[in-house]
Amino acid sequence: MKARSTCRLLGVLVLSIITANLAAASAAAPRERLLLDFGWKFHLGNEWGFAQNLAKAASGHGPANASFSDAGWRTVNLPHDWAVELPFDSRADGSHGFKPVGRGFESNSVAWYRRTFELPKEDADKRLWLEFDGAFRDCAVFVNNWCVGHHESGYSSFRCDITDVANCGGKNVVAVRVDASQFEGWFYEGAGIYRHVWLVKTSPLAIAPDGILVWSEPERNVLSDKAQKINVEVHLLNSLTNYVGVKVKCRVISPEEKLSAETYESEFVRASATEVLHLNATVLSPDLWSPESPKLYKLVTTVESDGQIVDRQETEFGIRTVAFDATNGFLLNGRPYVLKGTCNHQDHAGVGAALPDRLQYFRVAKLKEMGCNAYRASHNPPTPELLEACDRLGMLVMDESRLLGSDAQNMARLEGLIRRDRNHPSVVIWSIANEEFSVQTSPVGGRVAETMQARIKQLDPTRPVTYAANVGNEFAGINRVIEVRGWNYYVGPGMDDYHRAHPAQPNVGTEQASTVGTRGIYTNDKQRGYVSAYDENNPRWGSTAESWWSFFAERPWLSGGFVWTGFDYRGEPTPYWWPCINSHFGIMDTCGFPKDNFFYYQSWWSDKPVLHLLPHWNWPGKEGQEIEVRALSNCDEVELFLNRQSLGRQTMKKNSHLKWTVKYAPGTLYARGYRGGVAVAGDVIQTAGAPAAIRLAPDRDIINADGEDISVVTVSVLDAENRLMPVASNLIQFDLAGPGRILGVGNGDPSCHEPDVFIRSASVRSIPLKEWRWKKLSDVRRPDLPELAVQFDDSSWDKADAQIEWGPLQENESGVFRARLNVTEQDLAVPIVELRFGRIDENGWVYVNGQKAGESHDWQAMPAFDVKRLLHPGENVIAVAVANAYGPGGPNLGVSLQMQTEPAPVQWQRSVFNGLAQIIVQSSKEPGELKLTAKSDGLASTTATITAQPCTPRPALP
Ligand code: GAL
Repeated sequence: MKARSTCRLLGVLVLSIITANLAAASAAAPRERLLLDFGWKFHLGNEWGFAQNLAKAASGHGPANASFSDAGWRTVNLPHDWAVELPFDSRADGSHGFKPVGRGFESNSVAWYRRTFELPKEDADKRLWLEFDGAFRDCAVFVNNWCVGHHESGYSSFRCDITDVANCGGKNVVAVRVDASQFEGWFYEGAGIYRHVWLVKTSPLAIAPDGILVWSEPERNVLSDKAQKINVEVHLLNSLTNYVGVKVKCRVISPEEKLSAETYESEFVRASATEVLHLNATVLSPDLWSPESPKLYKLVTTVESDGQIVDRQETEFGIRTVAFDATNGFLLNGRPYVLKGTCNHQDHAGVGAALPDRLQYFRVAKLKEMGCNAYRASHNPPTPELLEACDRLGMLVMDESRLLGSDAQNMARLEGLIRRDRNHPSVVIWSIANEEFSVQTSPVGGRVAETMQARIKQLDPTRPVTYAANVGNEFAGINRVIEVRGWNYYVGPGMDDYHRAHPAQPNVGTEQASTVGTRGIYTNDKQRGYVSAYDENNPRWGSTAESWWSFFAERPWLSGGFVWTGFDYRGEPTPYWWPCINSHFGIMDTCGFPKDNFFYYQSWWSDKPVLHLLPHWNWPGKEGQEIEVRALSNCDEVELFLNRQSLGRQTMKKNSHLKWTVKYAPGTLYARGYRGGVAVAGDVIQTAGAPAAIRLAPDRDIINADGEDISVVTVSVLDAENRLMPVASNLIQFDLAGPGRILGVGNGDPSCHEPDVFIRSASVRSIPLKEWRWKKLSDVRRPDLPELAVQFDDSSWDKADAQIEWGPLQENESGVFRARLNVTEQDLAVPIVELRFGRIDENGWVYVNGQKAGESHDWQAMPAFDVKRLLHPGENVIAVAVANAYGPGGPNLGVSLQMQTEPAPVQWQRSVFNGLAQIIVQSSKEPGELKLTAKSDGLASTTATITAQPCTPRPALP
């Protein structure tokens, strides 16, 4: 509810083209958004169960407890996907890519992440949030022993308010239990914190989370090129206990960094309340956003109170209109615009679901290269960085919620998605769900869809809503209520019948094709799990590229559509099963290497002249046999030559291809394409000789030294004349020198079981401390207690068993427990030496050779102490002073010394598949030269240099 203030000022419109100096305001505003991706400790395993004590606050045990030692855990940076690190297993779920996670693989299904950080004292006056872009899945988040959040879905972003429990002026420990035991989809989903985590700090009076909505939708869908009204909604959050007056200013900055418009409004905000302000401004001569010209404006919102700037936030947006018309299909900026789209999962070779931001740009750019202009985030909300890449590079997006459901939890997830994504110009339509086949045609399905659609309409005044229905000519359930009818498959006359019967309902091809093919393979091979890349294989429900596209291209009312899929992904290895572990649906493989169909789409989705021949021309033993040669092209005519002999010139039919039957002879296959009689394109394929050399081709040889940037390196095996060897399968070994790391390797082979990631692992040894003596004492809290000293004679003390669950101390009793520990020089020559306790019940002070190792005050904490510097070869004395509170107490459930070695070095390697592989290299924060060397038996090795240049990394928590 909005409180009306008495001194509300009129929104003032100021049009100006003066360059703004906004830096001053930004310096003063206290909002900080710090990346929390670096230096997490990671452990795979569920030794501690849920680790949360539901009976009492702030009393988690094991890793959930701040005093737990994670020193021996692996260090990882986010985004991180532990499923991609696991070996393939034929017993695991095939639709998830045969990775041993989920039912039957319990020990691989739960993991912990921990991170320690300091907060300055001044933060005590701020609001503090942890923001998770997404983690798969079912997360419990603990900060300083408090459970601050629990979030189930692996695809929606969530935030935890940690203001109350943060330790400002000291150390904070965040621990996240991630449970991937259950699946949410039927495709590879990854496991872990596979998107970014942020720490957000704001003043107590600030813009609320996701509190800006900016849109430029004009009335009646007509954009004026003279002046465009911009609407802004600012949601304020006042966590103060008093009423405050605020002035909110919005400035619109043009793509050329000029001030285009400015407006402000004043308001009172009640104590501990939220308030919404509506502002508007007009931009003259707007630069419209489109995939061809992705012009971005910036809205700079500042909040002032008492003459101080208390918040400032920048929001990128675009000025554009979108609509779906029942007759003309999709309209962008008022004009028909055919959607040439692909559906995609968030999955890439080498990294699984944990894509660095730069990889999103890499993939969007690859799709654009094909002529693709639309991306369906199937079947779940994407990471915000994908949308950012689509905004900036120019790609329309269908943004999809994971599940159909109008229950509170699903509606909250849906609302979160809309609020998070509604400023992105790339997002042009919402999809509420995909193929909910048990309810999609029922009245109940319709009611649920209507509730979801209505809520979206309340939150977003500009975008239409669809649902991906895998039914044909059926106007029932969801199709009856949904704004835009989505078509998954069912290409054919049923579509025309439906359109005739429901001429007022717009349509879109939400999911089409599902054509299967393997890069560089031209016959189906069930045993090896390969499918021919000639456009001729599709599952029962799908179609070839040519058949669905030629149908859609002739029907503007269908709006175009989205191919299943742009890239191959792990899981769903249709039409085969093990040993095949990933899908064949992609127009590109998991690395983004094009299959032949890439050029079919490029021919009919782009304007530039395209000519591509298939198959490759290395068929030893097939001399004289007939091979079908195809030309994928948008030229009017194509002429084919083999070894300079013309095999005929043919005329191309629109949205089709050409073919010749050619008697194989090694040599050169050449084609020339004509438009209006003029040669405009050519393609040449030569028979390659034996593998002789390796080529490394980084997509970028200069990257930022920010610890995040990557170079995607193509590895090719060449013959002696530098021609790609199209059937090579050599195993290549990689070494990287310089400030960086290898993130992952892949080759696009859908049946390859080689690892994508090589983990350096440490070995752990432990020595149990079984022989204890103990004595009851009245006050054990003094560090100068003689019973803690090395020389103290404890031979007359009683024996204690520290293995059992309950110790000998009674309620409120205290005592000292002593044990001897023999270690060798070798035992101590490892980097991590820890003394681990199953439990110290209740308060404990631990001494090693008379020196304090640490203390513990939580009976569930499972404390561990770094004792490397306190131990010496020979006999050592461990003394533990324990002050019990309730029930029996003591050091229980086992005490041991754990010694962990330095992680062993690993040799990265990968076979090329049909001549190609990919290796992803990431910078560290140190500038310098990264030297990537590739070698293989019998091939000339090679080194590529990638320069990590100095840069200002984005603000991150140290
Ligand atoms: C669709 C489904 C996709 C994928 C595809 C394979 O029915 O929506 O997620 O499974 O089939 O053809």
